[in-house]
Amino acid sequence: MSKIIRVGVTFPPDLLRELDEVLEETGYESRSKAIQDSVSAFVSEHKWLREQKGMRVGVLVVLYDHEVKGLNEALIDTQHEHADVIYSSMHIHLSERDCLEAIAVKGEAEEIKKLTQELKTKKGVKQVKLSIVY
Ligand code: NI
Repeated sequence: MSKIIRVGVTFPPDLLRELDEVLEETGYESRSKAIQDSVSAFVSEHKWLREQKGMRVGVLVVLYDHEVKGLNEALIDTQHEHADVIYSSMHIHLSERDCLEAIAVKGEAEEIKKLTQELKTKKGVKQVKLSIVY
């Protein structure tokens, strides 16, 4: 068995509470195991994305808090910068704060990746999921 390394991680209280609820529901015996599984999924998702090449078609689903200052404008700017791979988009006002955007993408994998990363890393963006279908 490989050596285990201990690291310190900070969490917003809400996220930690939600994590504990999931642990309770799913029967995980420790936070460490759940966090290791999450990190592992995060890493394989990144590896999968890195391996995508050539022409691709898919959908990006973006969940974000529109009350975060400047976020709306930043998301629109990013989409304009990558307009050549954006086929169409749909905006849904989910709740008072949350917006969901479904962005149909078609084009070079490299550029779809750049667009995905740029959306993902903005403050106030809660979730970005990319489904490549073709
Ligand atoms: Ni909205």
